[in-house]
Amino acid sequence: MNKDVIGFGALNLDKIYYVDKIPSKDEEGFVKDVKFFPGGSASNTIVGLSRLGIKAGYIGKIGDDEEGGLLYRDLLKENVDVRCVIKGKGRSGNAIILVDEHGNRAILVDPGVNDTIRYEEINLEAAKEYRMIHLTSFICKNGTDSLESQKRIVKEFEVVSFDPGMPYAWRGLRDMEPILKHTTIFLPNKAEIEMMFREDYLKAVEDCISLGIEIVVVKLGSEGCFVKTKNKEFRMRSLATKVVDTTGAGDAFNAGFIYGFVKGKDVEECARLGNYVAARCIEKFGAREGLPYNV
Ligand SMILES: Nc1ncnc2c1ncn2[C@@H]1O[C@H](COP(=O)(O)OP(=O)(O)OP(=O)(O)O)[C@@H](O)[C@H]1O
Ligand SMILES: [Mg+2]
Repeated sequence: MNKDVIGFGALNLDKIYYVDKIPSKDEEGFVKDVKFFPGGSASNTIVGLSRLGIKAGYIGKIGDDEEGGLLYRDLLKENVDVRCVIKGKGRSGNAIILVDEHGNRAILVDPGVNDTIRYEEINLEAAKEYRMIHLTSFICKNGTDSLESQKRIVKEFEVVSFDPGMPYAWRGLRDMEPILKHTTIFLPNKAEIEMMFREDYLKAVEDCISLGIEIVVVKLGSEGCFVKTKNKEFRMRSLATKVVDTTGAGDAFNAGFIYGFVKGKDVEECARLGNYVAARCIEKFGAREGLPYNV
């Protein structure tokens, strides 16, 4: 157990098409430019950690298509351990995003093979070299295999961090309890924790502590974050910065916070690092471009 953090979540290729207009039924539009961005919430966080020098790996699945190769090579380029990336049959996860001249967006998400990760196909021996696991959500449109695998694998780790995103917040407390009971650091945003617990976030964080979660971090967008542990609670304001694109701000925050935790910092410093990495992320376009190499 000599390595730091392994992520477990979806792997997606975001294909952004810059178009003259978003066509409606029977209409035709034209593509002016295309850009591909590798993503997936946990993988953004893992790339952020790897850039900061943390020994990081990934559990995920790609298909046997060009997109899969691209996602795989990108993780390699970022120095992420890919021994637990499963090469499946079918399409890799991707999102087709149309952006028009006014910045309006239309998005089609294809989960591809993301939802189909069976516990038996995970390279557990390699995964268990890590002290900590970081989980984010799967869409579960093609089944719940990946979620069931997450519920099983959390039992194998000393430290678990968990960002539910809206897909898991929607599933509710009862469905998520097997993961929450093993969670050390819970990292929802305000809307997600209120959706999951069906109550105000200040009340919900109390329930999290009662469930045995050590550190609860509620992300509050431009207002920063609220942190609660058994012994203390505090707010930490975000850093003033020029906002270019907030895509992936939450994932970047997670990278900063987890980095602090791995380095043995106190929770105040972890929260400061979360806000710092998030601020660097939103100064640039996309979820990864602004992720820093030092803090
Ligand atoms: N306008 C902003 N100015 C400064 N910091 C910001 C701003 N928006 C977000 N942040 C930073 O990003 C962090 C995460 O943002 P947010 O609360 O939107 O997370 P999220 O909803 O999980 O994001 P995501 O959509 O990426 O999942 C905040 O805690 C804060 O540090
Ligand atoms: Mg988020």
